[in-house]
Amino acid sequence: MEVESLANWLSIRDSDTFPYPAVIDEYLRVGKHFVPTELLDMLANIRSTISDVRGSSASVRLLQRFLDAALDKRDGRYDYPSYLALGLLPLPALDESYADLSAAQRQYDRIFVHLIADLVRFELDAACARTNLLPEMRPDLATTIKRCRLGLIAARSATTRLGLMPEAVGDLLLEAREFCSNIDATLSRQERDTLRLSMLPVYIIHDEHMFIRVLQAFEATFAVLAVQLSDAISALTAGRSDLALARIQAAQKVLHDAAPLFSLLGTMQVEAFRTFRTYTEGASAIQSRNYKLVESVCRQPDPERVDSIAYHSVPEVRERVLAGPPTLNGEFETARAGGRLNAADARVLELAMRQLASTLLQWRRTHYRLAVRMLGERSGTGYTQGTPYLKAVQTIPVFPVTTPCPSGPGES
Ligand code: HEM
Repeated sequence: MEVESLANWLSIRDSDTFPYPAVIDEYLRVGKHFVPTELLDMLANIRSTISDVRGSSASVRLLQRFLDAALDKRDGRYDYPSYLALGLLPLPALDESYADLSAAQRQYDRIFVHLIADLVRFELDAACARTNLLPEMRPDLATTIKRCRLGLIAARSATTRLGLMPEAVGDLLLEAREFCSNIDATLSRQERDTLRLSMLPVYIIHDEHMFIRVLQAFEATFAVLAVQLSDAISALTAGRSDLALARIQAAQKVLHDAAPLFSLLGTMQVEAFRTFRTYTEGASAIQSRNYKLVESVCRQPDPERVDSIAYHSVPEVRERVLAGPPTLNGEFETARAGGRLNAADARVLELAMRQLASTLLQWRRTHYRLAVRMLGERSGTGYTQGTPYLKAVQTIPVFPVTTPCPSGPGES
């Protein structure tokens, strides 16, 4: 069917009418790892002649990005960014020039709630037998309810900022449905397409949907953190310690608010995870550029870390780090030493940095515990030994260790 739709489309070659639904349906019917060669060959053929495709530059670009995500396994370049189809998601970006940082925050809020609402909607649809996608190892109703509750908790701050949080009515499932409808009603066509095209699981196990959406939502979180912290650096350089403080506090809050995503992911059935990860070999979050950007925007990583698999897995970020860009810690120390920060401002900034460090260290501890539970003794998919790697890196200081701050939590 999908081959037929594609064959018909080839006589038109207009990106606006590309048969995405038919192609996506086939991917979801068998899982990306098992897509028939005939379909893959047709898609590869279209990509190799993309310059002949008609349509606006935005819609041709969308098709190109979709094909790149869909053909990663065939191309032999399957990795974490292609698994999550990150090229299709409108994540905040460091190289984007935001007139006002509230635009980046709003961009984050939107993509974050879209991802979580899609996750919750899929759980509800599966529980009500309204979908036959990814039919294997469905969770029980108690798990569905738990996932809806945790999804709403994780999305509450962003949804409230967007003015889309439903009133509590004392019925969780009703509230979850309303949350999904509120978000659905605000989706543009482009946002709807993005959501549909960015879900390409490797297999047909129900829980992989949640796994992908949670990873994508955390990617969005790291992306906005990198933008906020980088803006804090510029504010310090410009002598605006008030602005720098606001940015650091906003970054800390965003990371703190997203943390319930780990509890949500903790409801994943261990056997489900161990089954679908057989097909995710080569895709590991050690390749997360946004995570390493956050780390290296805070401070210059130690040389042994820059020379380890941690940074060799993200070559562009490694290049950036080696070029020695300004860091939050470096700019803070320079401003303090140069007398651009008075003692009181320096104290509150230092406290905010410690709180940020504490939240990030907590994130790493929770991640480590979850990984141990899901993996046991198994190695990681990013060519590390797995959890021993995470155990070793979880305590790396976010900022250089300084003298303890009398009023701060003092974890950095
Ligand atoms: C089932 C849940 C998870 C398991 C079992 C797991 C496991 C692992 C393992 C074993 C590694 C080490 C690298 C490797 O060999 O693959 C790793 C790294 C990493 N994971 Fe996860 N992970 C999980 C969920 C997540 C989530 C939801 C995120 C959020 C984006 C995430 C982000 C990261 C990051 C950023 C690293 C790199 C850390 C560093 O290099 O310091 N992981 N994970």
